[in-house]
Amino acid sequence: MSSSSSSQSPASRSVSVDPDATLDVSVTINGDTHQLVIEPRRSLADVIREDVGLTGTHLGCEHGVCGACTVMVNGEPSRACLMLAVQADGADITTIEGLANDDGSMHPIQQAMHEAMSFQCAFCSPGFLMSTVALLRDNPSPSTDEIREELSGNLCRCTGYQSIVDGVETAVSLINSGGAA
Ligand code: FES
Ligand code: FES
Repeated sequence: MSSSSSSQSPASRSVSVDPDATLDVSVTINGDTHQLVIEPRRSLADVIREDVGLTGTHLGCEHGVCGACTVMVNGEPSRACLMLAVQADGADITTIEGLANDDGSMHPIQQAMHEAMSFQCAFCSPGFLMSTVALLRDNPSPSTDEIREELSGNLCRCTGYQSIVDGVETAVSLINSGGAA
């Protein structure tokens, strides 16, 4: 009996992948729509930083642990280092650059953390701020324990956690007193 190609084991088949292949992707970032041509292997974080030029989204661990790369994707906080940019096709994304008010003044959470001196080197700030936006949207009056729990996925290598919690509590006071934009 003669053998045919369909009898080859999976390991013996060769798959041809063009490493330079690109895909067209359309994303809206901070209200602006970007038509991008990108390799499928690239992360959303790299594309936001390198192709769109918004370097406020920081990269720390690049494997989903530190939270520095957190952006909002369709309203949900997401780790941009873990997401392929092609997965964001059609998405509405907000980065730290999109957080300030239209007149350029700080978002109440930025204002509160500024007042509470929540950051030292500030490398972690974009991630903490974006995570806090989601936290206070879903729970406008969190307890201290809830703040610590909800932000436990963000790491600060300067270890300024107490001042960050203070900043969130300041934000709660500011927003609940009518200081929110
Ligand atoms: S850089 Fe994305 S979680 Fe650390
Ligand atoms: S303030 Fe330096 S990493 Fe958080």
